[in-house]
Amino acid sequence: MRARSGTLRTDEESDMIEAKWRTVDDYIVDRLVGDAPLLAGVLEANAGAGLPAIDVSAAQGKFLHLMVRIAGARRILELGTLGGYSTIWMAQALPIDGRLETFEYEPRHADVARRNIERAGLSDRVRIHVGAAAETLPRLAAEAPAPFDLFFIDADKPNNPLYLEWAIRLGRPGSVIILDNVVREGDIVNPRSADPRIVGTRLAFDMIGGSPHLDGTALQTVGSKGYDGFALMVVR
Ligand code: SAH
Ligand code: DHB
Ligand code: MG
Repeated sequence: MRARSGTLRTDEESDMIEAKWRTVDDYIVDRLVGDAPLLAGVLEANAGAGLPAIDVSAAQGKFLHLMVRIAGARRILELGTLGGYSTIWMAQALPIDGRLETFEYEPRHADVARRNIERAGLSDRVRIHVGAAAETLPRLAAEAPAPFDLFFIDADKPNNPLYLEWAIRLGRPGSVIILDNVVREGDIVNPRSADPRIVGTRLAFDMIGGSPHLDGTALQTVGSKGYDGFALMVVR
């Protein structure tokens, strides 16, 4: 952020604030999340394969893991697999007969994720659907799957409204929906944004607020992944 007036922060001040967010995140991970060598290995494999480092943070991964346990979820649907980091955090919270369906557009990402999931010993519980989720979701729906207990939506943001519709359709009253990246350094409050990710997420907010099938809130987050946030919903 450039300093244009006395009220705005200098780059140096912003760097110090972000360093503090990271230090606190490190503290949280050190005390509460624990060292999970397997999950650190996933991030190493992703980096080695040249995947973008846009996975959830470790603290957020543990949060997703706890949400699965709190909800008693046995069936999870995830949109946006990348290298499977969030997938593995959630799948590790599933009972042995649990199931996670995850959707990824990029075959290269899916290949890396498949290897990571295999290494985590979770291949029996996780299925990766490769392709644009708008096309692969109807194929899953055609299998008439039992309702999903928890959704993690973290794929292409312009399609967030469509993905919420799918979650309502494939869920049941009481299903939990978590929608990632809904704050984007505060850009979400710009009604004139031309960024299709912001436009899509603003439409998702309108939908959450206006849908008789959804009840939700959103929380702003800071940490090792910067300033962002997630929306949390229950299907009703
Ligand atoms: N959930 C992951 C991060 C996902 S990043 C984690 O926290 O570890 C977003 C992913 O969505 C990327 O891998 C991207 O390729 C994928 N994606 C983008 N457009 C998509 C689409 N139309 N359908 C499915 N996946 C898509
Ligand atoms: C981006 C996507 C994400 O899912 C995320 O958590 C962070 C960044 C992105 O596309 O830039
Ligand atoms: Mg995300």
